[in-house]
Amino acid sequence: MASTSRVLSGAQPTADSYHLGNYFGAFKQWVALQDEFEAFYFIPDLHSITVEYDPAQLRERTYIAAAQLLAAGVDPERSALFVQSHVPEHAQLAWVLGGITGFGEAGRMTQFKDKSARSGSDSASVGLFTYPILMAADILIYQADKVPVGEDQRQHVELARNLAQRFNHRFGETFTVPEAHIVKATAKIYDLQDPVSKMSGSNQSHAGVVDLTDTPQQAAKKLRSAVTDSGSEIFYDRETKPGIANLLTIFSALTDRSIDDVVAEFEGQQYGHLKVALGDLVGDFVAAFGDRTRELLGDRAELDRILAAGAVRAREVAVPTLQLVYERSGFVAP
Ligand code: TYM
Repeated sequence: MASTSRVLSGAQPTADSYHLGNYFGAFKQWVALQDEFEAFYFIPDLHSITVEYDPAQLRERTYIAAAQLLAAGVDPERSALFVQSHVPEHAQLAWVLGGITGFGEAGRMTQFKDKSARSGSDSASVGLFTYPILMAADILIYQADKVPVGEDQRQHVELARNLAQRFNHRFGETFTVPEAHIVKATAKIYDLQDPVSKMSGSNQSHAGVVDLTDTPQQAAKKLRSAVTDSGSEIFYDRETKPGIANLLTIFSALTDRSIDDVVAEFEGQQYGHLKVALGDLVGDFVAAFGDRTRELLGDRAELDRILAAGAVRAREVAVPTLQLVYERSGFVAP
Protein backbone atom coordinates (compact mmCIF):
# COMPACT_ATOMS: atom_id res chain seq x y z
CA MET A 1 0.00 0.00 0.00
CA ALA A 2 2.68 2.49 1.05
CA SER A 3 4.47 4.24 -1.81
CA THR A 4 7.76 4.56 0.09
CA SER A 5 8.85 1.93 2.59
CA ARG A 6 8.00 3.07 6.06
CA VAL A 7 9.49 2.40 9.44
CA LEU A 8 7.69 3.07 12.72
CA SER A 9 8.46 2.65 16.39
CA GLY A 10 7.73 4.06 19.83
CA ALA A 11 9.17 4.02 23.34
CA GLN A 12 7.08 4.68 26.44
CA PRO A 13 7.73 7.68 28.69
CA THR A 14 7.20 5.59 31.82
CA ALA A 15 10.40 6.56 33.64
CA ASP A 16 12.46 9.69 34.20
CA SER A 17 14.86 8.42 31.59
CA TYR A 18 15.31 5.77 28.95
CA HIS A 19 18.05 3.22 29.68
CA LEU A 20 20.89 1.56 27.84
CA GLY A 21 18.64 -1.38 26.84
CA ASN A 22 16.25 0.98 25.03
CA TYR A 23 19.18 2.64 23.32
CA PHE A 24 20.87 -0.48 21.99
CA GLY A 25 17.72 -2.57 21.49
CA ALA A 26 15.77 0.14 19.71
CA PHE A 27 17.05 3.70 19.25
CA LYS A 28 20.29 2.76 17.51
CA GLN A 29 18.22 0.96 14.88
CA TRP A 30 15.73 3.81 14.61
CA VAL A 31 18.56 6.20 13.80
CA ALA A 32 20.16 3.86 11.26
CA LEU A 33 16.85 3.23 9.48
CA GLN A 34 15.85 6.86 9.03
CA ASP A 35 18.32 7.12 6.13
CA GLU A 36 16.61 4.46 4.06
CA PHE A 37 12.97 4.69 5.11
CA GLU A 38 10.24 7.20 5.63
CA ALA A 39 10.39 7.15 9.41
CA PHE A 40 7.75 7.70 12.10
CA TYR A 41 8.94 7.67 15.70
CA PHE A 42 6.67 8.54 18.56
CA ILE A 43 6.22 8.75 22.31
CA PRO A 44 3.29 6.49 23.30
CA ASP A 45 1.80 8.53 26.13
CA LEU A 46 -1.56 6.76 25.71
CA HIS A 47 0.17 3.49 26.53
CA SER A 48 1.69 4.97 29.67
CA ILE A 49 -1.68 5.64 31.31
CA THR A 50 -2.50 1.91 31.46
CA VAL A 51 -0.61 1.63 34.75
CA GLU A 52 -0.84 3.93 37.77
CA TYR A 53 0.83 7.25 36.97
CA ASP A 54 1.04 10.91 37.90
CA PRO A 55 -0.17 13.42 35.24
CA ALA A 56 2.43 16.14 35.93
CA GLN A 57 5.15 13.52 35.88
CA LEU A 58 3.88 12.06 32.59
CA ARG A 59 4.00 15.50 30.97
CA GLU A 60 7.58 16.07 32.14
CA ARG A 61 8.65 12.57 31.12
CA THR A 62 7.21 13.10 27.65
CA TYR A 63 9.50 16.12 27.17
CA ILE A 64 12.47 14.17 28.53
CA ALA A 65 11.64 11.33 26.14
CA ALA A 66 11.53 13.74 23.19
CA ALA A 67 14.86 15.30 24.16
CA GLN A 68 16.48 11.88 24.63
CA LEU A 69 15.26 10.59 21.29
CA LEU A 70 16.69 13.67 19.60
CA ALA A 71 19.93 13.25 21.57
CA ALA A 72 20.06 9.63 20.40
CA GLY A 73 20.09 10.86 16.83
CA VAL A 74 16.48 10.91 15.67
CA ASP A 75 16.62 13.71 13.11
CA PRO A 76 13.38 15.70 12.85
CA GLU A 77 14.34 16.74 9.32
CA ARG A 78 14.25 13.12 8.19
CA SER A 79 11.83 11.51 10.66
CA ALA A 80 8.45 12.52 11.99
CA LEU A 81 8.92 12.64 15.77
CA PHE A 82 5.64 13.08 17.62
CA VAL A 83 3.50 12.35 20.66
CA GLN A 84 0.88 9.62 20.26
CA SER A 85 -1.97 11.62 21.83
CA HIS A 86 -1.44 14.36 19.21
CA VAL A 87 -2.61 11.94 16.53
CA PRO A 88 -6.12 10.84 17.57
CA GLU A 89 -6.32 8.32 14.70
CA HIS A 90 -4.24 5.82 16.73
CA ALA A 91 -6.99 5.44 19.33
CA GLN A 92 -9.72 5.50 16.69
CA LEU A 93 -8.13 2.65 14.76
CA ALA A 94 -7.52 0.73 17.98
CA TRP A 95 -11.26 0.66 18.60
CA VAL A 96 -11.91 -0.84 15.16
CA LEU A 97 -9.16 -3.43 15.62
CA GLY A 98 -10.59 -4.33 19.02
CA GLY A 99 -13.61 -5.68 17.16
CA ILE A 100 -11.53 -8.28 15.35
CA THR A 101 -9.24 -9.25 18.23
CA GLY A 102 -10.11 -12.37 20.17
CA PHE A 103 -10.32 -12.13 23.94
CA GLY A 104 -8.17 -15.25 24.24
CA GLU A 105 -5.74 -13.91 21.68
CA ALA A 106 -5.21 -10.75 23.75
CA GLY A 107 -4.98 -12.86 26.90
CA ARG A 108 -2.02 -14.77 25.50
CA MET A 109 0.22 -11.68 25.39
CA THR A 110 3.09 -12.55 27.71
CA GLN A 111 3.87 -8.94 28.62
CA PHE A 112 0.31 -8.47 29.89
CA LYS A 113 0.58 -11.68 31.87
CA ASP A 114 3.89 -10.55 33.43
CA LYS A 115 2.77 -7.01 34.18
CA SER A 116 -0.61 -7.99 35.57
CA ALA A 117 1.00 -10.69 37.70
CA ARG A 118 3.32 -8.04 39.13
CA SER A 119 0.52 -5.64 40.05
CA GLY A 120 -1.95 -8.38 40.96
CA SER A 121 -4.48 -9.26 38.25
CA ASP A 122 -7.32 -7.53 40.14
CA SER A 123 -5.63 -4.17 39.97
CA ALA A 124 -4.50 -4.55 36.34
CA SER A 125 -6.51 -2.17 34.13
CA VAL A 126 -8.57 -3.00 31.05
CA GLY A 127 -6.24 -0.58 29.24
CA LEU A 128 -3.26 -2.77 30.08
CA PHE A 129 -5.14 -5.71 28.60
CA THR A 130 -6.01 -3.92 25.34
CA TYR A 131 -2.62 -2.20 25.12
CA PRO A 132 -1.31 -4.53 22.35
CA ILE A 133 -4.34 -3.59 20.20
CA LEU A 134 -3.41 0.09 20.50
CA MET A 135 0.15 -0.87 19.60
CA ALA A 136 -1.13 -2.69 16.51
CA ALA A 137 -3.04 0.47 15.57
CA ASP A 138 0.13 2.56 16.05
CA ILE A 139 1.85 0.41 13.47
CA LEU A 140 -0.96 -0.19 10.98
CA ILE A 141 -2.19 3.41 10.80
CA TYR A 142 1.11 4.29 9.04
CA GLN A 143 1.12 1.24 6.75
CA ALA A 144 4.54 0.57 8.28
CA ASP A 145 6.75 -2.05 6.64
CA LYS A 146 9.32 -2.36 9.42
CA VAL A 147 9.10 -2.00 13.19
CA PRO A 148 12.48 -1.82 14.95
CA VAL A 149 12.06 -3.14 18.50
CA GLY A 150 13.77 -5.27 21.12
CA GLU A 151 12.94 -8.93 21.63
CA ASP A 152 10.27 -8.21 24.27
CA GLN A 153 8.03 -6.57 21.65
CA ARG A 154 8.17 -9.41 19.11
CA GLN A 155 4.85 -10.94 20.17
CA HIS A 156 3.10 -7.56 19.97
CA VAL A 157 4.33 -7.00 16.42
CA GLU A 158 3.13 -10.51 15.59
CA LEU A 159 -0.34 -9.54 16.82
CA ALA A 160 -0.24 -6.46 14.57
CA ARG A 161 0.61 -8.72 11.61
CA ASN A 162 -2.25 -11.06 12.44
CA LEU A 163 -4.75 -8.22 12.78
CA ALA A 164 -3.60 -6.66 9.49
CA GLN A 165 -4.03 -9.97 7.67
CA ARG A 166 -7.40 -10.62 9.31
CA PHE A 167 -8.75 -7.19 8.44
CA ASN A 168 -7.48 -7.47 4.86
CA HIS A 169 -9.07 -10.88 4.52
CA ARG A 170 -12.46 -9.80 5.87
CA PHE A 171 -12.78 -6.32 4.43
CA GLY A 172 -10.40 -6.18 1.47
CA GLU A 173 -6.74 -5.24 1.08
CA THR A 174 -6.25 -2.29 3.44
CA PHE A 175 -3.13 -2.66 5.57
CA THR A 176 0.51 -3.31 4.88
CA VAL A 177 1.54 -6.37 6.90
CA PRO A 178 4.47 -5.12 9.02
CA GLU A 179 7.62 -6.95 9.98
CA ALA A 180 9.51 -6.71 13.24
CA HIS A 181 13.08 -5.54 12.77
CA ILE A 182 15.01 -7.12 15.62
CA VAL A 183 18.80 -7.03 15.64
CA LYS A 184 19.73 -10.29 17.30
CA ALA A 185 22.97 -9.16 18.96
CA THR A 186 21.31 -6.36 20.95
CA ALA A 187 17.68 -7.53 21.04
CA LYS A 188 17.91 -8.09 24.78
CA ILE A 189 20.31 -6.19 27.01
CA TYR A 190 20.35 -7.71 30.49
CA ASP A 191 20.32 -6.21 33.96
CA LEU A 192 23.91 -5.76 35.18
CA GLN A 193 23.04 -7.19 38.61
CA ASP A 194 20.91 -10.02 37.26
CA PRO A 195 22.20 -10.89 33.79
CA VAL A 196 19.45 -13.39 33.07
CA SER A 197 16.71 -10.72 33.38
CA LYS A 198 16.17 -7.94 30.88
CA MET A 199 17.39 -4.45 31.75
CA SER A 200 14.17 -2.63 32.60
CA GLY A 201 13.16 0.59 34.30
CA SER A 202 10.67 -1.37 36.37
CA ASN A 203 13.33 -3.68 37.86
CA GLN A 204 13.27 -3.50 41.66
CA SER A 205 16.80 -2.19 41.99
CA HIS A 206 18.39 0.37 39.68
CA ALA A 207 21.91 -0.87 40.41
CA GLY A 208 21.86 -2.98 37.26
CA VAL A 209 20.10 -0.44 35.01
CA VAL A 210 22.13 2.30 33.31
CA ASP A 211 19.86 5.28 32.74
CA LEU A 212 20.76 7.67 29.96
CA THR A 213 20.56 10.44 32.59
CA ASP A 214 23.12 8.78 34.87
CA THR A 215 26.24 10.80 35.62
CA PRO A 216 29.45 9.32 34.19
CA GLN A 217 30.43 8.36 37.76
CA GLN A 218 27.13 6.57 38.42
CA ALA A 219 27.27 4.72 35.10
CA ALA A 220 30.92 3.70 35.51
CA LYS A 221 30.20 2.44 39.02
CA LYS A 222 27.27 0.31 37.79
CA LEU A 223 29.52 -1.28 35.19
CA ARG A 224 32.38 -1.84 37.64
CA SER A 225 29.95 -3.49 40.08
CA ALA A 226 28.30 -5.68 37.41
CA VAL A 227 27.72 -9.26 38.49
CA THR A 228 30.05 -11.58 36.62
CA ASP A 229 30.34 -15.32 36.34
CA SER A 230 32.48 -18.10 37.76
CA GLY A 231 35.82 -18.70 36.04
CA SER A 232 38.10 -15.88 34.99
CA GLU A 233 38.59 -16.14 31.25
CA ILE A 234 36.84 -13.60 29.05
CA PHE A 235 34.87 -15.19 26.20
CA TYR A 236 31.31 -15.01 24.89
CA ASP A 237 28.93 -17.71 26.09
CA ARG A 238 25.36 -16.70 26.96
CA GLU A 239 24.67 -19.98 28.76
CA THR A 240 27.64 -20.33 31.06
CA LYS A 241 28.78 -16.69 31.22
CA PRO A 242 25.64 -14.50 31.03
CA GLY A 243 27.28 -11.60 32.89
CA ILE A 244 30.37 -11.45 30.68
CA ALA A 245 28.27 -12.04 27.55
CA ASN A 246 26.14 -9.01 28.45
CA LEU A 247 29.20 -6.82 29.04
CA LEU A 248 30.76 -7.96 25.75
CA THR A 249 27.49 -7.20 23.96
CA ILE A 250 27.38 -3.67 25.37
CA PHE A 251 31.08 -3.13 24.60
CA SER A 252 30.63 -4.31 21.04
CA ALA A 253 27.47 -2.25 20.45
CA LEU A 254 28.99 0.89 21.93
CA THR A 255 32.19 0.71 19.89
CA ASP A 256 30.70 -0.85 16.73
CA ARG A 257 33.30 -3.58 16.94
CA SER A 258 32.67 -7.31 16.67
CA ILE A 259 32.46 -9.42 19.83
CA ASP A 260 35.47 -11.44 18.60
CA ASP A 261 37.49 -8.29 18.28
CA VAL A 262 36.61 -7.21 21.83
CA VAL A 263 37.35 -10.68 23.20
CA ALA A 264 40.76 -10.59 21.47
CA GLU A 265 41.53 -7.23 23.07
CA PHE A 266 40.96 -8.68 26.55
CA GLU A 267 42.75 -11.97 26.00
CA GLY A 268 44.66 -12.98 29.11
CA GLN A 269 43.05 -10.19 31.19
CA GLN A 270 40.74 -10.42 34.19
CA TYR A 271 37.01 -9.63 34.37
CA GLY A 272 37.90 -6.48 36.31
CA HIS A 273 39.81 -5.06 33.34
CA LEU A 274 36.79 -5.45 31.10
CA LYS A 275 34.48 -3.88 33.68
CA VAL A 276 36.71 -0.86 34.27
CA ALA A 277 37.30 -0.28 30.55
CA LEU A 278 33.60 -0.58 29.76
CA GLY A 279 32.71 1.61 32.74
CA ASP A 280 34.88 4.37 31.30
CA LEU A 281 33.37 3.99 27.83
CA VAL A 282 29.78 4.02 29.09
CA GLY A 283 30.67 6.95 31.37
CA ASP A 284 31.88 8.97 28.37
CA PHE A 285 28.79 7.97 26.44
CA VAL A 286 26.27 9.09 29.10
CA ALA A 287 28.25 12.30 29.68
CA ALA A 288 27.89 13.34 26.04
CA PHE A 289 24.31 12.07 25.89
CA GLY A 290 23.37 13.97 29.04
CA ASP A 291 24.88 17.21 27.72
CA ARG A 292 22.87 16.98 24.51
CA THR A 293 19.68 16.10 26.38
CA ARG A 294 20.01 19.01 28.81
CA GLU A 295 20.59 21.43 25.98
CA LEU A 296 17.48 20.21 24.14
CA LEU A 297 15.39 20.28 27.32
CA GLY A 298 16.43 23.88 27.87
CA ASP A 299 14.34 24.98 24.90
CA ARG A 300 10.81 23.70 25.41
CA ALA A 301 9.40 25.92 22.69
CA GLU A 302 11.69 24.26 20.17
CA LEU A 303 10.67 20.78 21.42
CA ASP A 304 7.00 21.79 21.08
CA ARG A 305 7.67 22.98 17.56
CA ILE A 306 9.42 19.73 16.56
CA LEU A 307 6.64 17.58 18.06
CA ALA A 308 3.89 19.66 16.44
CA ALA A 309 5.57 19.42 13.02
CA GLY A 310 5.98 15.66 13.56
CA ALA A 311 2.28 15.27 14.35
CA VAL A 312 1.33 17.17 11.18
CA ARG A 313 3.43 14.79 9.07
CA ALA A 314 2.07 11.78 10.93
CA ARG A 315 -1.52 12.85 10.36
CA GLU A 316 -0.89 13.23 6.62
CA VAL A 317 -0.63 9.44 6.61
CA ALA A 318 -2.88 8.52 9.55
CA VAL A 319 -5.98 10.44 8.44
CA PRO A 320 -6.31 8.81 5.00
CA THR A 321 -5.63 5.35 6.47
CA LEU A 322 -8.41 5.81 9.00
CA GLN A 323 -10.75 7.08 6.28
CA LEU A 324 -10.12 3.95 4.25
CA VAL A 325 -10.64 1.75 7.30
CA TYR A 326 -13.94 3.46 8.13
CA GLU A 327 -15.11 3.05 4.56
CA ARG A 328 -14.14 -0.64 4.50
CA SER A 329 -15.81 -1.09 7.89
CA GLY A 330 -19.15 0.07 6.52
CA PHE A 331 -19.46 3.39 8.35
CA VAL A 332 -21.53 6.04 6.59
CA ALA A 333 -19.31 8.94 5.53
CA PRO A 334 -19.90 12.06 7.68
P1 TYM B 1 9.22 0.12 25.74
O1 TYM B 1 8.85 1.53 25.95
O2 TYM B 1 9.15 -0.80 26.90
O3 TYM B 1 10.67 0.01 25.14
C1 TYM B 1 11.11 0.80 24.05
C2 TYM B 1 12.01 -0.04 23.15
O4 TYM B 1 13.15 -0.52 23.86
C3 TYM B 1 13.27 -1.93 23.72
N1 TYM B 1 13.85 -2.47 24.95
C4 TYM B 1 14.95 -3.23 24.99
N2 TYM B 1 15.75 -3.70 24.02
C5 TYM B 1 16.81 -4.46 24.39
N3 TYM B 1 17.09 -4.75 25.69
C6 TYM B 1 16.31 -4.30 26.69
N4 TYM B 1 16.61 -4.58 27.95
C7 TYM B 1 15.18 -3.50 26.36
N5 TYM B 1 14.22 -2.91 27.09
C8 TYM B 1 13.41 -2.28 26.21
C9 TYM B 1 11.84 -2.39 23.51
O5 TYM B 1 11.80 -3.66 22.90
C10 TYM B 1 11.29 -1.30 22.63
O6 TYM B 1 11.65 -1.51 21.28
N6 TYM B 1 4.92 -1.29 23.65
C11 TYM B 1 6.21 -0.64 23.41
C12 TYM B 1 6.04 0.78 22.93
C13 TYM B 1 5.21 0.90 21.72
C14 TYM B 1 5.58 0.55 20.40
C15 TYM B 1 4.45 0.85 19.59
C16 TYM B 1 6.74 0.03 19.84
C17 TYM B 1 3.93 1.37 21.69
N7 TYM B 1 3.48 1.36 20.40
C18 TYM B 1 4.48 0.61 18.21
C19 TYM B 1 6.74 -0.22 18.46
C20 TYM B 1 5.63 0.07 17.67
C21 TYM B 1 6.98 -0.61 24.71
O7 TYM B 1 6.41 -0.62 25.76
O8 TYM B 1 8.34 -0.49 24.56
